[in-house]
Amino acid sequence: MISRTGSLFNVLLFFAFLLLSHGITIPAPSNGHYTVSQTTAKLIDESRTDPYDPNKGKRNVMTSIFYPVRHKHCESTCEIPYAPPITARYLDAFAAQHGIPDGTLPSIRMESCCNTTSQATKEVTKFPIAIFSPGLGATRLLYNAMAQTLAASGYIVATIDHTYDAMIVEYPDGTFTPGLDPSYWNIEPPELEERLTKLLDTRVEDGRFVLSQLGNASVVKSLIPGTTCAFNTKRAAFLGHSFGGATSIAALMKDRRFVGGANMDGTQWGTISNIYKPALLFGRAEPDTHNSTTDATWQEALDHMKAWKRELGLRNSAHNTFGDTPLLVKLSGWEITDAIRTLIGTLDGGRSFQIVTTYLTAFTDFVLKGRRSPLFDGESSLYPEIVVA
Ligand SMILES: *[C@@H]1O[C@H](CO)[C@@H](O)[C@H](O)[C@H]1NC(C)=O
Ligand SMILES: *[C@@H]1O[C@H](CO)[C@@H](O)[C@H](O)[C@H]1NC(C)=O
Ligand SMILES: *[C@@H]1O[C@H](CO)[C@@H](O)[C@H](O)[C@H]1NC(C)=O
Repeated sequence: MISRTGSLFNVLLFFAFLLLSHGITIPAPSNGHYTVSQTTAKLIDESRTDPYDPNKGKRNVMTSIFYPVRHKHCESTCEIPYAPPITARYLDAFAAQHGIPDGTLPSIRMESCCNTTSQATKEVTKFPIAIFSPGLGATRLLYNAMAQTLAASGYIVATIDHTYDAMIVEYPDGTFTPGLDPSYWNIEPPELEERLTKLLDTRVEDGRFVLSQLGNASVVKSLIPGTTCAFNTKRAAFLGHSFGGATSIAALMKDRRFVGGANMDGTQWGTISNIYKPALLFGRAEPDTHNSTTDATWQEALDHMKAWKRELGLRNSAHNTFGDTPLLVKLSGWEITDAIRTLIGTLDGGRSFQIVTTYLTAFTDFVLKGRRSPLFDGESSLYPEIVVA
């Protein structure tokens, strides 16, 4: 009898463990003044032929829009899938290579405000915009939590997929565009650089296009029903990770509506010209350093930044510390294997997510709200993991 109860107990524990290890929910952000709603849309740029589409169709850009809602104007929250089904399975196969259990990615959900008052809809167009561009090959969805956290401080955050560059772009109707074949990148330097520069230019145009769409009242109304005017697109921030970070800095050179930009851990590409706007390079401090001393393109970028500029380094980080991966690892309770450490470094995932989003928000507050933060003046006792150059 005792042993039977014991095994029943073990079985229950086992199921509890399965629930814990398979059901990851990203909580609503607790940092900001707002809760956050989100919507996704496929936007089609009638003015551009997609340079990578074999059928020469119009360029399309999938975007997720995260927008702030005052707590009292959120009528109900719900959990929504982190990624749509085909992408989730695709990411799952990728994660399996890092020892992450099958079925994990499709199980991830995020808490979101799903129903707002009409007052919230009226207020939404007053918030300033930040565009976010992902790393080379990456889906925008792997930055959902980061975007949601930034939005909670009072920003419209639009994350964008760069079609054919992202490993997969999935549309609301369930169709998808796979990324370029990896062999496209299997070439030697001069051509490789030409291809990357062309891709960078295409990405900058994607960001400019999405910003323009957000300045069109009928587009905004279709994204967020009930709105009656467009967003203010005269002044926006451009933020990005890796190649998306390079895209941010390139967008500052190209479009006067982008009034400040941050490059998180991305090598710069293309021609760098002078920038007279605030710009941030946010890289890695020791042991796996990536900064202007180790990357000549960062030094060149810094030399061209003629207004406010900073270089930050996060200690004990890795390239994918700048995204949602650390938070997902933290929430899942996965064992931290060497494969995971290669992705996100040795810093605790919850801690690094908090630090990265705190500095990103402080930078956006400076660019779009003119708010100065002591975080950029030097080392902070609150965040000793950060090196300010
Ligand atoms: C959303 O709010 C509307 C109006 O208050 C209500 O009719 C509807 O049932 C709500 N939906 C959910 C999912 O809560
Ligand atoms: C705004 O978007 C609508 C719908 O896509 C389009 O018909 C209209 O021409 C756009 N307006 C401007 C000023 O671009
Ligand atoms: C870059 O990193 C190296 C190695 O950690 C360090 O010596 C150097 O001071 C750093 N440079 C800047 C500008 O932070």
